[in-house]
Amino acid sequence: MNKEPIRIGIAGLGTVGAATLGFLINENARIAARAGRALQVDAIVARDRTKDRGVDTSDIRWFDDPVALAKDDGIDLYIELIGGADGVAKASVEAALAAGKPVVTANKALLAHHGAALAKLAEETPGASLHYEAAVAGGIPAVKALREGLAGNGVTRVSGILNGTCNYILTEMESTGAAFGDVLLEAQNLGYAEADPTADVGGFDAAHKLAIMAAIAFGRQIDFASVEIEGIESISSEDIAAAKDIGYRIRLLGMAERTPEGVSQRLRPCLTPIASPLGSIEGVTNAVMLEGDAIGATVLVGPGAGGGPTASAVLADIVDVARGNTPPTFGIACNDLIQPENGKTIRDIGAFYLRIALEDRPGTLAEVAAALGQEGVSIHRMHQHDHTGNAAPVTIVTHICDLSAIERSKTRIAALPASVAPPVSMRIVES
Ligand SMILES: NC(=O)c1ccc[n+]([C@@H]2O[C@H](COP(=O)([O-])OP(=O)(O)OC[C@H]3O[C@@H](n4cnc5c(N)ncnc54)[C@H](OP(=O)(O)O)[C@@H]3O)[C@@H](O)[C@H]2O)c1
Repeated sequence: MNKEPIRIGIAGLGTVGAATLGFLINENARIAARAGRALQVDAIVARDRTKDRGVDTSDIRWFDDPVALAKDDGIDLYIELIGGADGVAKASVEAALAAGKPVVTANKALLAHHGAALAKLAEETPGASLHYEAAVAGGIPAVKALREGLAGNGVTRVSGILNGTCNYILTEMESTGAAFGDVLLEAQNLGYAEADPTADVGGFDAAHKLAIMAAIAFGRQIDFASVEIEGIESISSEDIAAAKDIGYRIRLLGMAERTPEGVSQRLRPCLTPIASPLGSIEGVTNAVMLEGDAIGATVLVGPGAGGGPTASAVLADIVDVARGNTPPTFGIACNDLIQPENGKTIRDIGAFYLRIALEDRPGTLAEVAAALGQEGVSIHRMHQHDHTGNAAPVTIVTHICDLSAIERSKTRIAALPASVAPPVSMRIVES
């Protein structure tokens, strides 16, 4: 083993940082053997020096400023576990890269917003490299699977359940019949959701991860701005029950696909069969499905968050750095990455679910079928659910069509005299 230790600086000792530090101290010999090099935590920084981090930090140099730690000559590898797209996380990562150091980060917001510039800085600075396995789906080795394991594939689609909080809420809504707001409150009480849940339930956290995976999968510049994002806030228990009645589950799916018009990146609630690889995922678990011309499809399932699982990914990157395994940030040299399609409309084609509430009287279904027919939408199957009041809930599964035709059909249906509530639609993903 090369006796020269790699001197590590860790910024951020919260959920992920403290877990990473714990493994580096308690399991040092095992991890160093894999790394082929001694690993020494040389410096740390957090806001509160007095907080218990679960391990003895008295022999480790403390810093007050992450940027100063990132630049310090005494460290060879900078680990950023603070979080946030900007501020000190960004400034310190830039400082470490500019100083020619490898950087490991779990920060998906930073990568999604500034990944292009950071990757360029890493590539242009001798000694620098950027590693971010923990930024996508926590403990699931999705980045390595895509960038290394599937390097020979023409990737056609990446999709996944990329936010455990949302999947927990959707799972609970289905099993208890409770409304979104009540389940969110319970998730907050259990510590599965933040006090401000916007990043999770609004889809932004998952969209960050999708943008990162899409960049690697399709060899293109990271393009978070063009991810279409819809969260789960407006999912009703009626839709969860109606989907279940016809054999589907609602899941917040991230999906990036190669289409004739370019790469689509969409993060939104979809219906997927209960027994499918993504439909069968319950609770806080994450799943990533990768499809390519050579492999067909492969699915990775596991914990998408938490100290241990996320530290697992950080440690893998540390081992990579120690081994000298530093591939281009997004798998291809920056200058060879494809530029995003910029403003190009990418059609959304597939089967759709429609839920309609109609007055319960003869002839109304025919009016709905006519409204759909006028927009060229054909019905694959139709289901009227049990009801007690005068409004009959009807769900329709369409044949493959364009989302724009669905939107126009909804306007027509909403204008029918028999319509008692605005129609709801969602994309169906069969696999
Ligand atoms: N938590 C997860 O399960 C998970 C999963 C995947 C990825 N990630 C990513 O991992 C990163 C860290 O997440 P986390 O959950 O571990 O966050 P966290 O528990 O909130 O920890 C943040 C740490 O950063 C420190 N910090 C904040 N501002 C600082 C500043 N200005 N100077 C120095 N230190 C500062 C805090 O210090 P104090 O402790 O003194 O307050 C704390 O130790 C984020 O990018 C997150 O998106 C997290």
